[in-house]
Amino acid sequence: MYWATAALILVFSFGCDLLSPPKEPATGFTEFGNIGELYESYFPIGAAVSGGEYGTNSFTYYPANVVSVFSSFVAENCMKPALIQPEEGTFEWDAADVIVDAAEARGAVVRGHTLVWHSQSPAWMTAGTKEEARARMRAHILAVAGRYTGRISAWDVVNEAVTDYGYRTDSPWYTVYGDASYIQDAFDYAYEADPDAKLFYNDYGVVNASKRNTIKNMITELRLKEDHHLAGVGIQAHWNLNWPSLSEIQATIDTFSDMGLEVQFTELDIDVYGGDGSIAETVLTDDLDEALADRYGEIFALFRQNAEKITNVTFWGIADDHTWLNRFWDSTYHNDEFRQNYPMPFNTNHEAKRLYMRITDF
Ligand code: G3I
Repeated sequence: MYWATAALILVFSFGCDLLSPPKEPATGFTEFGNIGELYESYFPIGAAVSGGEYGTNSFTYYPANVVSVFSSFVAENCMKPALIQPEEGTFEWDAADVIVDAAEARGAVVRGHTLVWHSQSPAWMTAGTKEEARARMRAHILAVAGRYTGRISAWDVVNEAVTDYGYRTDSPWYTVYGDASYIQDAFDYAYEADPDAKLFYNDYGVVNASKRNTIKNMITELRLKEDHHLAGVGIQAHWNLNWPSLSEIQATIDTFSDMGLEVQFTELDIDVYGGDGSIAETVLTDDLDEALADRYGEIFALFRQNAEKITNVTFWGIADDHTWLNRFWDSTYHNDEFRQNYPMPFNTNHEAKRLYMRITDF
């Protein structure tokens, strides 16, 4: 009798989980519409891709019917300074050429990411004096943006130059310049290299009022729109199931649109763990698949309502088998360990998820 009672206590103390069957993963869809065509009258729908820089060419890795639904592409890594010019005068063009050529072959637009950033930036570029660094910045931008003149619809000229309350003063560019004027130079050199590209400032957390205001103040203080050819603001949109609110997204769209700037959502993904590194890996259950569909559904409905202010919406990837979120969970305890996340429109089998069906049914 004792053992039976103990077993019951054990079962009920675990909330009967021991009795419920293991959660089955949700099934995907092998038949799906072309989101790029469906959104043609609204804005391009993009995906971050690899051109082979880490061994994977997205255009051959993913099934043709998957990669062909996008009308815009951006290099996830291979156009960043440390990858495209690792040593001064040594350029690695192959992966970037793959992406630009493949996009053009599909009639898709290309976003350039990114010319000046504090991360993935080679140390040699900002060594020495301000004038030496300035000359290297100009040479880098003229070489990279100049190679693709007329082929890039929008450049993330400067990425993540501010914190919530001020300039990112620990940026190697801020350090070697001694102030934020490197941002003005970057936009001037990008315009010199490719006057046809739309020039963007790109950042994360832009929906937070503090950072949104800091970016607005930077744009005003540096006269980036009036004197330095700024065309728009890239909102990275690394969000989750509960944050940000639709009202915060709308306020952010309005803030920059009211400044006469274009708005682009440049790195969209929804972290199902909400950035909480303590949550153990889950499968993509039906409930989670539905929650993702609801979340993406409300976000894309808002995007469509603001189509006259938005000029690109890009997912930061294509399918769940490759997303930075599978490894970025908390660098304190799990640095570079793998935990499957589910932020993308296609699942690990490269089938469309419920969220894809939801945002293409309107
Ligand atoms: O796959 C290689 C592996 O073969 C190699 O052994 C290893 C050696 O370090 O590198 C691995 O590549 C990693 C790559 O992600 C895999 O996709 C790189 O180390 C790693 O640096 C790279 O991280 C990228 C990260 O930017 C770097 O900061 C992510 O892919 C990329 O998604 C992420 O993208 C950034 C945007 O550019 C800016 N906004 C934030 C966004 C997320 O952090």
